[in-house]
Amino acid sequence: MMPFLLPAFLLFLFNMIESVILYEFIPNNAGISKVDLYMKFGLTKALPAGSMIAIGADFATYRYADGDIKDYCWSSIDYFSCTISSGIIQVTTSLSIPAYTAMTFYFDNLFDFTSQSPGDTALGFSVTSSWNGVTITEDASNTNIVTIGASVADAFTAYGIGANNPTIGDMTNFRFIFATSADVNPGDNILIKFDRAFNPWIAEPAELDITDRNDQNFYYVDCFSDTLGSIQCTAGHWYLNVTGVTNTINAGTWFYLWIKKVLTPDLSNLYFRFYIFNSANQLKIRSSDANLRITNSLPANAIDIKSVSLSDNYLWDTSNYFFEFYLDFSLTLTNDYSFYILFPQQYDFNSNNTAIPCTASYQEDGGSLTPWITSQCIYDNNYVIFGIPSNAGSYSFSATTKITISLYGIVNPKWAQINPWGSAWGDTNFYGDTYYLSDKFEIEVFQESLGKIAGRSFGLMHSGYVGLNKAVKQFAFKYPQGCKIY
Ligand SMILES: *[C@@H]1O[C@H](CO)[C@@H](O)[C@H](O)[C@H]1NC(C)=O
Ligand SMILES: *[C@@H]1O[C@H](CO)[C@@H](O)[C@H](O)[C@H]1NC(C)=O
Repeated sequence: MMPFLLPAFLLFLFNMIESVILYEFIPNNAGISKVDLYMKFGLTKALPAGSMIAIGADFATYRYADGDIKDYCWSSIDYFSCTISSGIIQVTTSLSIPAYTAMTFYFDNLFDFTSQSPGDTALGFSVTSSWNGVTITEDASNTNIVTIGASVADAFTAYGIGANNPTIGDMTNFRFIFATSADVNPGDNILIKFDRAFNPWIAEPAELDITDRNDQNFYYVDCFSDTLGSIQCTAGHWYLNVTGVTNTINAGTWFYLWIKKVLTPDLSNLYFRFYIFNSANQLKIRSSDANLRITNSLPANAIDIKSVSLSDNYLWDTSNYFFEFYLDFSLTLTNDYSFYILFPQQYDFNSNNTAIPCTASYQEDGGSLTPWITSQCIYDNNYVIFGIPSNAGSYSFSATTKITISLYGIVNPKWAQINPWGSAWGDTNFYGDTYYLSDKFEIEVFQESLGKIAGRSFGLMHSGYVGLNKAVKQFAFKYPQGCKIY
């Protein structure tokens, strides 16, 4: 049986060891700290759920102390935990894995090559698997060799970041400007490591990257550059890969990169790192850690979404949706106002929904639920618009009034993002921790006569979002945390 495509020179290893390992350091250069590790391997035997895969390296110690590293650990397999124990990475699987399955792992910032010299070699990785303490596969000898690449000087002469009125928790467009002391050429790709205060997909993710690395959840994000050419950007765990550079940028010339719909984190000091690789994927230009400052403003008139729930959470099914939220301010709502509910991009209203039956009710703190409006909502792209009819009268809401909006007969998405941590976060029916993931629902209150938003939710401050539980093909909501519950 042919496990998966292997470079011919590795095939002979197959009888000697029980795993075949491909690995890549990003970047593989002397003098670099925070080096990522990408690994792909298959094991010659099947693993039951709950097996432990132990990855050891002889040549360097990991940057992380013993303990939990699940925030730095990404894999194509569902795993229950990812830790370092006595310098060995231990991944406990949550599902069984057939023999020869190609497994990929990506570890963020795992190594430090600052004291390595170019050309240094050492023994690389070995993989052992076991179940309940019984060894399943074991590499008899560790035959792969690691070689450290050339050292590359910091050649960014300038960089800057700008954003349009960045508000914490809000989406905005980010602009990077750079100049380097070496040329940037067609075919180069630019890798930007983002501060972990951002969400791991940096901006609003579009479709999944269909390349070899889609098992690490790389998404396309919307970016453009009038200087680099017709670029594409993929993002995954706090870095952005800019490919498709078609222009030559001469040394010392400014070049620009816009990234659209970035969720602005709550930080005034953001650290970035920039790498430029040539078309052979060798590092040619790098920056040191860049400390860039943006001035954030705090949101005014926030809407706190308490929960988003639904009657049926299977992909493609039709479901009723229930939104509970509070206005964080006082407002008398009349027929001059509408609620705008923005659904994540996976929803496709234009092709499936015509008019949407909808109701609203409210509940004062400690009071009972009072029915308020029964209406037909309309949609505009992914906004469901709930106009307050004149027969609803006027009602004064304060920060303690809970509003519930119900929308009936919405077609569920056909796809959703996959939980990148598998069951590492515990309950596999819900995925991830709240603030990491995007694709949020947003609610706005719009004043029609002024054409103005009177209040709105902010993506990073709540978490009514769409996710997918890979195992049961059900899509799931994580209920908000960190919002006000009175
Ligand atoms: C960035 O994209 C290039 C071109 O597709 C690819 O060769 C490289 O491996 C990618 N880098 C990462 C870190 O995924
Ligand atoms: C939604 O619309 C698409 C075509 O636009 C159709 O293929 C699909 O079956 C519809 N789904 C439902 C649940 O009606």
